[in-house]
Amino acid sequence: MRLQRINISTPELDKQENDWWNTNCDLIETIWANSFELQMAIRAHYLNRMKAFFMKDAKKLPLQILEVGCGTGWVCRLVADENFHVLGTDFSASQIQKAKEQAIRFKKDQFCKYELADASTFSKEYDGVVIHALLHHLSTQELDTFFAEFGKLKKGTKVFMYEPVCFEPNNKTVFVEKILNRIILHYRKKALENVENTKSVNQELLKKWNSIDQQATENGWYISPKEVPFYEDEIKNYLDKYCNIIDHYVVNKTDLEVAQKMTLHDINQPDAK
Ligand SMILES: C[S@@+](CC[C@H](N)C(=O)[O-])C[C@H]1O[C@@H](n2cnc3c(N)ncnc32)[C@H](O)[C@@H]1O
Repeated sequence: MRLQRINISTPELDKQENDWWNTNCDLIETIWANSFELQMAIRAHYLNRMKAFFMKDAKKLPLQILEVGCGTGWVCRLVADENFHVLGTDFSASQIQKAKEQAIRFKKDQFCKYELADASTFSKEYDGVVIHALLHHLSTQELDTFFAEFGKLKKGTKVFMYEPVCFEPNNKTVFVEKILNRIILHYRKKALENVENTKSVNQELLKKWNSIDQQATENGWYISPKEVPFYEDEIKNYLDKYCNIIDHYVVNKTDLEVAQKMTLHDINQPDAK
């Protein structure tokens, strides 16, 4: 499994990554974005917090927000409205096509526009930039290019970032965190069992999901060809150079795992379970 960030990518690897996102577009939308109802249950809390951060002290409305690596667009689409306009960019033609269709389906196409573009260029001025789970798909060299571009944003541009980060357990992990982790793991296990006992698995979806895992195992990838989650310090080192970090917080991924399991079992409405 690829755990080491790629230093310098190759055209072949870039193509593999792009092909992967084009080929798996619908499957990823199903198991990563989940249904609208599940999105509201597991994502709305931090995306509303993101929106409030952008809206606070806004000098003029609507805000113009750039979402780099927007995939199928669900992240900003959830909070887009007449005061919060979004341009989503992504290098995958299938993802952009899907984003346009979904914006129409959810009646957000007035506020959400999409363009095919690589993450290495985004020089226009915006009121804010959203980066949701993109950066861990870039090589070190691409991250350098990305952050150099990022450094050209006008001073004061607000940025919201969400990236998967591995925390390295160490002796300093405080007692309270250890207890909290035990509680989370307990409820995670119960919730996953509950899902399994409620409805049988969608075999077709499971097969597709497993084939992604199998492909990753065969090729030595984490999941997609260039994907490598960050270590906490690794991402922080980049951010410290270019940003004044106002806040950072953990969005625990347990609820995403439960929602994914629910999706796999064709349960698209959250309830007490
Ligand atoms: C994990 S997905 C995140 C998508 C969306 N932001 C979300 O959270 O669902 C990573 C996205 O980055 C895009 N991507 C990967 N490398 C890229 C690059 N070099 N330029 C632009 N987009 C890229 C992929 O096509 C994919 O849509």
